[in-house]
Amino acid sequence: MKNPVLLLGGSGVVGSRVARTLRRLQPELPLVLAGRDGAKAAAVAAEVGGPTTAIVVDLSREDLGLEPVAAFSAVVTLLKDPWLNSLKYAQGRGLAYLSFASFAFEIGPELAHYVQGPERAPILMLGHVFGGIGTLAALHFAREFLKRVESIALAGVVDPDDQGGPASQADFERLVQQFPSALIRHDGLWRWVEGQDAVREIVDVTGVKRQGQALPLLDVVSLAAATDAKSLRVDFAARESTGQGPSTELIVEIAGEGHDGERKQVRVELVDDDVYARLSAHGAALATERLLGLTGEPAPAPGLYHPESLLEPGQVLRRLQELGVRVRRVVS
Ligand SMILES: NC(=O)c1ccc[n+]([C@@H]2O[C@H](COP(=O)([O-])OP(=O)(O)OC[C@H]3O[C@@H](n4cnc5c(N)ncnc54)[C@H](OP(=O)(O)O)[C@@H]3O)[C@@H](O)[C@H]2O)c1
Repeated sequence: MKNPVLLLGGSGVVGSRVARTLRRLQPELPLVLAGRDGAKAAAVAAEVGGPTTAIVVDLSREDLGLEPVAAFSAVVTLLKDPWLNSLKYAQGRGLAYLSFASFAFEIGPELAHYVQGPERAPILMLGHVFGGIGTLAALHFAREFLKRVESIALAGVVDPDDQGGPASQADFERLVQQFPSALIRHDGLWRWVEGQDAVREIVDVTGVKRQGQALPLLDVVSLAAATDAKSLRVDFAARESTGQGPSTELIVEIAGEGHDGERKQVRVELVDDDVYARLSAHGAALATERLLGLTGEPAPAPGLYHPESLLEPGQVLRRLQELGVRVRRVVS
Protein backbone atom coordinates (compact mmCIF):
# COMPACT_ATOMS: atom_id res chain seq x y z
CA MET A 1 0.00 0.00 0.00
CA LYS A 2 1.14 3.56 -0.75
CA ASN A 3 2.23 5.88 2.03
CA PRO A 4 -0.50 8.42 2.78
CA VAL A 5 -0.94 11.67 0.91
CA LEU A 6 -0.41 14.66 3.20
CA LEU A 7 -3.20 17.18 2.53
CA LEU A 8 -2.05 20.42 4.17
CA GLY A 9 -5.24 22.39 4.77
CA GLY A 10 -7.22 19.17 4.28
CA SER A 11 -9.83 20.33 6.82
CA GLY A 12 -10.64 23.55 4.95
CA VAL A 13 -13.43 24.43 2.53
CA VAL A 14 -11.36 23.26 -0.47
CA GLY A 15 -9.24 20.70 1.38
CA SER A 16 -12.20 18.74 2.73
CA ARG A 17 -13.60 18.57 -0.81
CA VAL A 18 -10.24 17.42 -2.22
CA ALA A 19 -10.29 14.65 0.40
CA ARG A 20 -13.85 13.67 -0.54
CA THR A 21 -13.12 13.61 -4.28
CA LEU A 22 -9.94 11.59 -3.72
CA ARG A 23 -11.84 9.16 -1.50
CA ARG A 24 -14.43 8.72 -4.24
CA LEU A 25 -11.78 8.22 -6.94
CA GLN A 26 -9.44 6.10 -4.82
CA PRO A 27 -11.30 4.35 -1.97
CA GLU A 28 -8.15 2.66 -0.62
CA LEU A 29 -5.76 5.63 -0.81
CA PRO A 30 -4.57 6.64 2.68
CA LEU A 31 -5.00 10.37 3.38
CA VAL A 32 -3.73 12.52 6.24
CA LEU A 33 -5.62 15.80 6.73
CA ALA A 34 -3.48 18.47 8.35
CA GLY A 35 -4.17 21.86 9.91
CA ARG A 36 -3.55 23.77 13.14
CA ASP A 37 -6.75 22.55 14.77
CA GLY A 38 -6.48 18.77 15.26
CA ALA A 39 -10.11 18.30 16.39
CA LYS A 40 -11.43 20.04 13.28
CA ALA A 41 -9.20 17.91 11.03
CA ALA A 42 -10.26 14.72 12.89
CA ALA A 43 -13.94 15.55 12.40
CA VAL A 44 -13.43 16.03 8.64
CA ALA A 45 -11.34 12.82 8.47
CA ALA A 46 -14.17 10.84 10.12
CA GLU A 47 -16.65 12.26 7.64
CA VAL A 48 -14.38 11.48 4.63
CA GLY A 49 -14.06 7.89 5.86
CA GLY A 50 -11.80 5.07 4.64
CA PRO A 51 -8.10 5.19 5.54
CA THR A 52 -8.17 8.88 6.51
CA THR A 53 -6.45 10.30 9.58
CA ALA A 54 -5.80 13.78 10.95
CA ILE A 55 -2.66 15.50 12.17
CA VAL A 56 -1.57 18.90 13.51
CA VAL A 57 1.15 20.72 11.57
CA ASP A 58 3.29 23.76 12.24
CA LEU A 59 4.19 25.27 8.89
CA SER A 60 6.70 27.66 10.47
CA ARG A 61 9.00 24.67 11.14
CA GLU A 62 11.12 23.00 8.45
CA ASP A 63 9.96 19.57 9.70
CA LEU A 64 6.35 20.88 9.74
CA GLY A 65 6.27 19.73 13.39
CA LEU A 66 5.94 16.11 12.23
CA GLU A 67 7.64 13.01 13.66
CA PRO A 68 10.88 12.11 11.84
CA VAL A 69 9.38 8.68 11.04
CA ALA A 70 6.36 10.19 9.28
CA ALA A 71 6.27 8.95 5.67
CA PHE A 72 4.10 10.27 2.84
CA SER A 73 3.69 9.66 -0.89
CA ALA A 74 2.96 13.31 -1.79
CA VAL A 75 2.47 16.73 -0.19
CA VAL A 76 -0.61 18.62 -1.42
CA THR A 77 -0.61 22.18 -0.08
CA LEU A 78 -4.19 23.47 -0.13
CA LEU A 79 -3.37 26.82 1.46
CA LYS A 80 -0.81 29.59 1.04
CA ASP A 81 2.32 28.44 2.87
CA PRO A 82 4.12 31.74 3.47
CA TRP A 83 7.31 29.96 4.61
CA LEU A 84 7.36 27.38 1.78
CA ASN A 85 8.51 24.83 4.36
CA SER A 86 6.02 22.40 2.85
CA LEU A 87 7.83 22.60 -0.50
CA LYS A 88 11.23 22.17 1.16
CA TYR A 89 9.85 19.21 3.15
CA ALA A 90 8.60 17.49 -0.01
CA GLN A 91 11.72 18.26 -2.06
CA GLY A 92 13.98 17.07 0.73
CA ARG A 93 12.22 13.70 0.74
CA GLY A 94 11.72 13.35 -3.02
CA LEU A 95 7.93 13.61 -2.67
CA ALA A 96 5.62 15.00 -5.33
CA TYR A 97 4.41 18.49 -4.37
CA LEU A 98 1.26 20.35 -5.39
CA SER A 99 1.11 24.15 -5.00
CA PHE A 100 -2.46 25.44 -5.08
CA ALA A 101 -2.55 29.04 -3.86
CA SER A 102 0.12 31.11 -5.61
CA PHE A 103 -0.95 33.94 -7.89
CA ALA A 104 1.08 34.71 -11.03
CA PHE A 105 3.01 37.51 -9.26
CA GLU A 106 4.26 35.31 -6.40
CA ILE A 107 5.61 32.12 -7.95
CA GLY A 108 9.25 33.32 -7.91
CA PRO A 109 10.26 31.64 -4.62
CA GLU A 110 8.74 28.31 -5.70
CA LEU A 111 10.54 28.49 -9.04
CA ALA A 112 13.83 29.16 -7.25
CA HIS A 113 13.42 26.01 -5.13
CA TYR A 114 12.86 24.03 -8.30
CA VAL A 115 15.89 25.62 -10.01
CA GLN A 116 18.03 24.77 -6.97
CA GLY A 117 17.02 21.10 -7.02
CA PRO A 118 15.39 20.17 -10.34
CA GLU A 119 16.15 16.49 -9.83
CA ARG A 120 14.62 16.25 -6.36
CA ALA A 121 10.85 15.96 -6.83
CA PRO A 122 7.95 16.62 -9.20
CA ILE A 123 6.42 20.03 -8.43
CA LEU A 124 3.02 20.91 -9.83
CA MET A 125 2.11 24.60 -9.90
CA LEU A 126 -1.69 24.68 -9.80
CA GLY A 127 -2.53 28.32 -9.09
CA HIS A 128 -5.01 28.11 -11.97
CA VAL A 129 -8.73 28.84 -11.97
CA PHE A 130 -10.69 25.94 -10.47
CA GLY A 131 -7.60 23.82 -9.91
CA GLY A 132 -6.63 23.74 -13.59
CA ILE A 133 -10.08 22.78 -14.91
CA GLY A 134 -10.37 26.02 -16.94
CA THR A 135 -7.06 25.50 -18.75
CA LEU A 136 -7.75 21.82 -19.42
CA ALA A 137 -11.27 22.49 -20.70
CA ALA A 138 -9.97 25.27 -22.98
CA LEU A 139 -7.29 22.99 -24.43
CA HIS A 140 -9.74 20.15 -24.96
CA PHE A 141 -12.27 22.24 -26.89
CA ALA A 142 -9.63 24.26 -28.75
CA ARG A 143 -8.21 21.00 -30.11
CA GLU A 144 -11.64 19.65 -30.97
CA PHE A 145 -12.84 22.68 -32.93
CA LEU A 146 -9.86 24.78 -34.01
CA LYS A 147 -6.66 24.39 -35.96
CA ARG A 148 -5.45 27.85 -34.89
CA VAL A 149 -6.45 29.58 -31.65
CA GLU A 150 -6.58 33.38 -31.55
CA SER A 151 -8.05 34.09 -28.15
CA ILE A 152 -9.14 32.31 -24.97
CA ALA A 153 -11.16 33.92 -22.20
CA LEU A 154 -12.05 31.98 -19.06
CA ALA A 155 -14.57 33.12 -16.49
CA GLY A 156 -15.71 31.81 -13.15
CA VAL A 157 -19.23 32.85 -12.12
CA VAL A 158 -20.05 32.22 -8.47
CA ASP A 159 -22.78 32.83 -5.90
CA PRO A 160 -22.56 36.28 -4.25
CA ASP A 161 -21.77 34.82 -0.82
CA ASP A 162 -19.30 32.19 -2.08
CA GLN A 163 -16.03 33.61 -0.75
CA GLY A 164 -14.33 30.35 0.26
CA GLY A 165 -12.91 29.82 3.75
CA PRO A 166 -10.77 32.21 5.82
CA ALA A 167 -7.61 31.24 3.89
CA SER A 168 -9.24 32.09 0.55
CA GLN A 169 -10.48 35.40 1.92
CA ALA A 170 -6.98 36.21 3.22
CA ASP A 171 -5.56 35.46 -0.23
CA PHE A 172 -8.01 37.83 -1.90
CA GLU A 173 -7.26 40.55 0.66
CA ARG A 174 -3.54 40.10 -0.03
CA LEU A 175 -4.27 40.40 -3.72
CA VAL A 176 -6.36 43.56 -3.44
CA GLN A 177 -4.09 45.31 -0.94
CA GLN A 178 -0.63 44.30 -2.17
CA PHE A 179 -0.96 43.70 -5.89
CA PRO A 180 -4.29 44.81 -7.34
CA SER A 181 -3.31 43.96 -10.93
CA ALA A 182 -4.12 41.06 -13.19
CA LEU A 183 -1.94 39.44 -15.83
CA ILE A 184 -3.52 39.25 -19.27
CA ARG A 185 -2.21 38.83 -22.80
CA HIS A 186 -3.67 41.21 -25.35
CA ASP A 187 -2.78 41.02 -29.06
CA GLY A 188 0.43 39.18 -28.19
CA LEU A 189 1.51 41.66 -25.52
CA TRP A 190 1.76 40.68 -21.83
CA ARG A 191 0.13 43.33 -19.62
CA TRP A 192 -0.54 43.83 -15.92
CA VAL A 193 -3.89 45.61 -15.88
CA GLU A 194 -6.13 47.27 -13.32
CA GLY A 195 -9.16 49.53 -13.24
CA GLN A 196 -11.32 49.51 -16.38
CA ASP A 197 -8.73 47.43 -18.31
CA ALA A 198 -9.29 44.63 -15.82
CA VAL A 199 -13.07 44.61 -16.27
CA ARG A 200 -14.90 42.42 -18.79
CA GLU A 201 -18.55 41.72 -19.52
CA ILE A 202 -19.40 38.07 -19.00
CA VAL A 203 -22.65 36.41 -20.08
CA ASP A 204 -23.58 33.78 -17.50
CA VAL A 205 -25.31 30.47 -18.26
CA THR A 206 -28.75 32.07 -17.96
CA GLY A 207 -27.83 34.72 -20.56
CA VAL A 208 -27.52 37.55 -18.03
CA LYS A 209 -24.59 39.99 -18.40
CA ARG A 210 -22.25 40.21 -15.40
CA GLN A 211 -19.24 42.38 -14.68
CA GLY A 212 -16.11 40.22 -14.49
CA GLN A 213 -12.83 41.21 -12.90
CA ALA A 214 -9.54 39.81 -14.25
CA LEU A 215 -7.33 37.88 -11.82
CA PRO A 216 -3.60 37.05 -11.92
CA LEU A 217 -4.08 33.28 -12.23
CA LEU A 218 -1.68 30.91 -13.96
CA ASP A 219 -4.05 29.87 -16.78
CA VAL A 220 -2.84 32.71 -18.98
CA VAL A 221 0.78 31.57 -18.89
CA SER A 222 -0.13 27.90 -19.36
CA LEU A 223 -2.40 28.63 -22.31
CA ALA A 224 0.04 31.07 -23.93
CA ALA A 225 2.69 28.35 -23.92
CA ALA A 226 0.35 25.55 -25.01
CA THR A 227 -1.49 27.36 -27.84
CA ASP A 228 -1.01 30.13 -30.44
CA ALA A 229 -3.49 32.39 -28.62
CA LYS A 230 -2.44 36.04 -28.66
CA SER A 231 -5.18 37.17 -26.27
CA LEU A 232 -5.80 35.46 -22.95
CA ARG A 233 -7.47 36.33 -19.66
CA VAL A 234 -9.27 34.86 -16.65
CA ASP A 235 -12.06 36.77 -14.89
CA PHE A 236 -14.33 36.17 -11.92
CA ALA A 237 -17.89 37.47 -11.57
CA ALA A 238 -20.62 37.10 -8.98
CA ARG A 239 -24.32 36.66 -9.75
CA GLU A 240 -27.45 36.48 -7.66
CA SER A 241 -28.04 33.23 -5.85
CA THR A 242 -30.03 30.72 -7.91
CA GLY A 243 -32.18 30.07 -4.84
CA GLN A 244 -31.64 26.35 -5.39
CA GLY A 245 -28.42 25.83 -3.44
CA PRO A 246 -24.87 26.73 -4.41
CA SER A 247 -23.80 26.63 -8.03
CA THR A 248 -20.58 27.43 -9.86
CA GLU A 249 -20.08 28.17 -13.55
CA LEU A 250 -16.92 27.99 -15.63
CA ILE A 251 -17.31 29.72 -18.99
CA VAL A 252 -14.72 29.07 -21.68
CA GLU A 253 -14.76 31.24 -24.81
CA ILE A 254 -12.35 30.45 -27.61
CA ALA A 255 -12.01 32.05 -31.03
CA GLY A 256 -9.86 31.09 -33.98
CA GLU A 257 -9.76 29.23 -37.28
CA GLY A 258 -11.72 25.99 -37.47
CA HIS A 259 -10.43 22.77 -39.01
CA ASP A 260 -12.49 23.72 -42.11
CA GLY A 261 -10.62 27.06 -42.46
CA GLU A 262 -13.67 29.09 -41.33
CA ARG A 263 -13.57 31.50 -38.39
CA LYS A 264 -15.14 29.89 -35.34
CA GLN A 265 -16.25 30.92 -31.88
CA VAL A 266 -16.66 28.25 -29.27
CA ARG A 267 -18.39 28.77 -25.94
CA VAL A 268 -18.42 26.01 -23.35
CA GLU A 269 -20.21 26.12 -19.99
CA LEU A 270 -19.32 23.81 -17.13
CA VAL A 271 -21.71 23.91 -14.19
CA ASP A 272 -21.28 22.27 -10.78
CA ASP A 273 -23.90 22.37 -8.02
CA ASP A 274 -21.68 23.43 -5.13
CA VAL A 275 -19.48 26.31 -4.01
CA TYR A 276 -16.51 27.01 -6.29
CA ALA A 277 -14.25 25.07 -3.94
CA ARG A 278 -15.65 21.77 -5.21
CA LEU A 279 -14.80 22.29 -8.89
CA SER A 280 -11.35 23.45 -7.74
CA ALA A 281 -11.06 20.41 -5.48
CA HIS A 282 -11.90 18.08 -8.37
CA GLY A 283 -8.98 19.65 -10.26
CA ALA A 284 -6.61 19.20 -7.33
CA ALA A 285 -7.77 15.60 -6.71
CA LEU A 286 -7.37 14.55 -10.36
CA ALA A 287 -3.89 16.11 -10.37
CA THR A 288 -2.95 14.36 -7.12
CA GLU A 289 -3.98 10.97 -8.54
CA ARG A 290 -1.77 11.66 -11.57
CA LEU A 291 1.17 12.75 -9.39
CA LEU A 292 0.88 9.43 -7.55
CA GLY A 293 0.79 7.40 -10.78
CA LEU A 294 -2.71 6.05 -10.07
CA THR A 295 -4.23 6.77 -13.47
CA GLY A 296 -2.56 4.09 -15.58
CA GLU A 297 0.51 6.17 -16.41
CA PRO A 298 3.74 6.12 -14.38
CA ALA A 299 4.17 8.82 -11.73
CA PRO A 300 5.94 11.84 -13.25
CA ALA A 301 9.70 12.18 -12.94
CA PRO A 302 11.16 15.07 -10.93
CA GLY A 303 10.43 18.30 -12.78
CA LEU A 304 8.26 21.40 -12.84
CA TYR A 305 4.73 20.89 -14.13
CA HIS A 306 1.53 22.70 -14.98
CA PRO A 307 -1.78 20.81 -15.18
CA GLU A 308 -1.67 20.53 -18.98
CA SER A 309 1.75 18.90 -18.84
CA LEU A 310 0.43 16.08 -16.61
CA LEU A 311 -3.24 15.58 -17.40
CA GLU A 312 -4.94 14.62 -20.67
CA PRO A 313 -7.71 17.24 -21.14
CA GLY A 314 -10.27 14.88 -22.71
CA GLN A 315 -9.88 12.35 -19.93
CA VAL A 316 -10.32 15.08 -17.31
CA LEU A 317 -13.53 16.28 -19.01
CA ARG A 318 -14.93 12.74 -18.96
CA ARG A 319 -14.08 12.23 -15.31
CA LEU A 320 -15.55 15.61 -14.33
CA GLN A 321 -18.83 14.59 -15.91
CA GLU A 322 -18.73 11.32 -13.93
CA LEU A 323 -18.30 13.52 -10.83
CA GLY A 324 -21.51 15.38 -11.70
CA VAL A 325 -20.23 18.44 -13.61
CA ARG A 326 -22.53 19.40 -16.52
CA VAL A 327 -20.98 20.48 -19.82
CA ARG A 328 -22.74 22.44 -22.60
CA ARG A 329 -21.10 23.68 -25.80
CA VAL A 330 -22.13 26.27 -28.34
CA VAL A 331 -20.20 26.62 -31.60
CA SER A 332 -20.81 29.41 -34.10
N1 LIG B 1 -6.16 27.05 -7.31
C1 LIG B 1 -7.44 27.04 -7.07
O1 LIG B 1 -8.24 26.66 -7.93
C2 LIG B 1 -8.00 27.46 -5.75
C3 LIG B 1 -9.38 27.47 -5.59
C4 LIG B 1 -9.90 27.78 -4.35
C5 LIG B 1 -9.06 28.10 -3.30
N2 LIG B 1 -7.71 28.10 -3.50
C6 LIG B 1 -6.81 28.38 -2.38
O2 LIG B 1 -6.94 27.31 -1.46
C7 LIG B 1 -6.64 27.79 -0.15
C8 LIG B 1 -7.63 27.24 0.86
O3 LIG B 1 -8.86 27.87 0.69
P1 LIG B 1 -10.13 27.50 1.61
O4 LIG B 1 -11.27 28.27 1.07
O5 LIG B 1 -10.22 26.01 1.71
O6 LIG B 1 -9.69 28.11 3.02
P2 LIG B 1 -10.00 27.53 4.49
O7 LIG B 1 -11.36 26.94 4.54
O8 LIG B 1 -9.66 28.63 5.42
O9 LIG B 1 -8.99 26.32 4.67
C9 LIG B 1 -7.64 26.50 5.06
C10 LIG B 1 -7.10 25.19 5.57
O10 LIG B 1 -5.73 25.34 5.88
C11 LIG B 1 -5.52 25.14 7.30
N3 LIG B 1 -4.57 26.18 7.71
C12 LIG B 1 -4.70 27.52 7.58
N4 LIG B 1 -3.60 28.14 8.03
C13 LIG B 1 -2.75 27.16 8.45
C14 LIG B 1 -1.45 27.19 9.01
N5 LIG B 1 -0.78 28.31 9.26
N6 LIG B 1 -0.87 26.01 9.30
C15 LIG B 1 -1.52 24.84 9.05
N7 LIG B 1 -2.75 24.76 8.52
C16 LIG B 1 -3.36 25.92 8.23
C17 LIG B 1 -6.91 25.28 7.94
O11 LIG B 1 -7.04 24.50 9.11
P3 LIG B 1 -6.77 25.19 10.57
O12 LIG B 1 -7.62 26.42 10.62
O13 LIG B 1 -7.14 24.11 11.53
O14 LIG B 1 -5.33 25.50 10.60
C18 LIG B 1 -7.78 24.69 6.83
O15 LIG B 1 -7.70 23.28 6.85
C19 LIG B 1 -6.57 29.30 -0.26
O16 LIG B 1 -5.20 29.66 -0.21
C20 LIG B 1 -7.19 29.60 -1.59
O17 LIG B 1 -6.71 30.79 -2.17
C21 LIG B 1 -7.17 27.79 -4.69
